Amino acid sequence: MLVADYQGFLLEWYAKNGRDLPWRRTRNPWWILLSEIMLQQTQVARIEQRWPEFIERFPTPQTCAEAPVAELIGMWSGLGFNRRAVNLHRCAVDITTRFGGDVPSDLDDLLSLPGIGPYTARAIRVFAFELDDAVLDTNVARILARTQGRTLKRLEAQNLADDAVPAGDGWRWNQAVLDLGASICTSKRPLCEVCPIAVRCRWRGNDAVVDPAKGSAGVSTPQSTFEGSDRQGRGRLVAALKDGPVDETDTPTVMGWEGDVERAERVAATLVVDGLAVYLEGRYELP
Ligand code: ADE
Repeated sequence: MLVADYQGFLLEWYAKNGRDLPWRRTRNPWWILLSEIMLQQTQVARIEQRWPEFIERFPTPQTCAEAPVAELIGMWSGLGFNRRAVNLHRCAVDITTRFGGDVPSDLDDLLSLPGIGPYTARAIRVFAFELDDAVLDTNVARILARTQGRTLKRLEAQNLADDAVPAGDGWRWNQAVLDLGASICTSKRPLCEVCPIAVRCRWRGNDAVVDPAKGSAGVSTPQSTFEGSDRQGRGRLVAALKDGPVDETDTPTVMGWEGDVERAERVAATLVVDGLAVYLEGRYELP
């Protein structure tokens, strides 16, 4: 394998500092898919705790497809962004009915699954099938913008990420880049003094230069405030539905918006659209 100097530096760093995360010990595509959907919007530490119960309860796409959606929504407690529970179930159904129960490895097939976007599709190809794609999440996008010393457009970032993957070593390379983003090339306080690829970085934490990651393609902006948000009301209603149906006249109170019937109605309707609730005879309930 021919690797450029900086690729060797990063892989060496990963050998010593890489995280021993539970989903890195498997190549089971369904288990990896589960972990990646969970990791989309929730911190690694929490998913480390919660992933085992999901793979135990749903060891295969079929076991998941056969479960009631309400069970997945119930299990999703504490993870946030409940829509992912519905998407996971829809994925399981699609994989069972359209792909014979096996998670596909083809990029377009993966992208055709509910809730699987460009990042997650590639993550499954790389981390389950050991293909030489490059994943592009906020961490990778930030590292690329900084090493290039300029903000990037989406396609440019994906091409740069693709070009950096050492042939035959996509699994290790991508895990290494994710770890570098999580522990060294962090959003707020990058530790450039100990960065294994600082020699190849045009920015190198230079205070005098605006961080090129700001506004670069794929770099996420901070999540909006939860307190008082529609998301908070949605979460409250879903939590209440786990205990049983809720009369529509009670939704403003349950959602914390006493007196604001219009808002409660509007936001409860989004839960129905997302498949997180059904509306029957004046009551909301889990699907
Ligand atoms: N986030 C998403 N996938 C990950 C992985 N494989 N390792 C660490 N963080 C991740």
